[in-house]
Amino acid sequence: MTRVLVTGGAGFIGSHIADALLARGDEVIVADDLSSGHRENVPAGARFVEADLAEPETLTDAIAGCDGVIHCAARASVTTSIDDPVHSNRANLQASTRLLLAARDAGVRRLVYSSTSAVYGDEVEGEAHEALRERPVSPYGMNKLAAEHLFRMAPALYGVDTVCLRYFNVYGPRQDPSSPYSGVISLFVTAALEGRPPTIYGDGGQSRDFTFVGDVVRANLAALDAPVGGGAAVNIGGGRPTDLLALWAAICRACGVDNLQPDHGPARPGDIRHSRAAVARVAELLGWRAEVPLDAGLEATVAWYRAHPLAAP
Ligand code: UD1
Repeated sequence: MTRVLVTGGAGFIGSHIADALLARGDEVIVADDLSSGHRENVPAGARFVEADLAEPETLTDAIAGCDGVIHCAARASVTTSIDDPVHSNRANLQASTRLLLAARDAGVRRLVYSSTSAVYGDEVEGEAHEALRERPVSPYGMNKLAAEHLFRMAPALYGVDTVCLRYFNVYGPRQDPSSPYSGVISLFVTAALEGRPPTIYGDGGQSRDFTFVGDVVRANLAALDAPVGGGAAVNIGGGRPTDLLALWAAICRACGVDNLQPDHGPARPGDIRHSRAAVARVAELLGWRAEVPLDAGLEATVAWYRAHPLAAP
């Protein structure tokens, strides 16, 4: 790949991907509507286009001459999708549909889609395996699954080869903690650094397969470069879940603070109880596996929040 469009490249995951592409010598174009991303996250070496993907005009220019597209732009919150499913449709499905047509028109060879473990829903016993029937329990998960189906059909119908990556709870430097719907690790680390107790929704026994952003970047590069995409959907997670009480304890250790007793609030509607990736398929298809253990990832994350206190709410 030589010229790559990163949608959502002003956001948390997309900006790390843009950094990595530039570091290996690719030309990078970032398209972002700055609805949740920040202009400062866009690396200096990338061209920036402010674009709402659901409105196609600005995209035509941004995507021209690109071989590859990494599609991270999304409204990535389960809770806000329940409150405003029409907006979730627009940002997560309509925008993806427009992008696919623009990719076809521009002759893009490979599109890598940031999907989510939320497509599986809440009925999974044990590991979430890609062969399971998906039963999302939020409009967000449903939109992401619908876009996956579109990208699965894309090689045959639109001549654009694709790979869908189902992320399991990504965390790391630059994750924005400023909304109550931000990723739990960004909220818990900023609480610990400020000496506040976190709020745990429910009993804290729910678990997540937390995945460090550096591992997610490697997965995207592997998906961009793989000889064949074929519309495959693969899990991006380590297969080692942590419950929220254990997570809070690990964060207190990483921050060097006392383990404050968390506050508890009611469980969130649409919340999944347990989430754990099956890891065999991605290893086989992309040769990828998660490499950063939670403690090491938390250490890097805490160091970043200490160095960027203004990012705190
Ligand atoms: C997250 C992602 C979503 C992704 C999905 C699957 C975010 C904001 N959402 O959803 O885009 O598709 O993983 O990878 O990253 N919690 C608390 N206290 C808090 C915040 C959260 O107890 O202050 C709990 C939640 O109720 C939930 C868990 O922590 O049980 C994780 O929540 P969150 O980080 O919002 O992620 P998901 O809802 O799993």
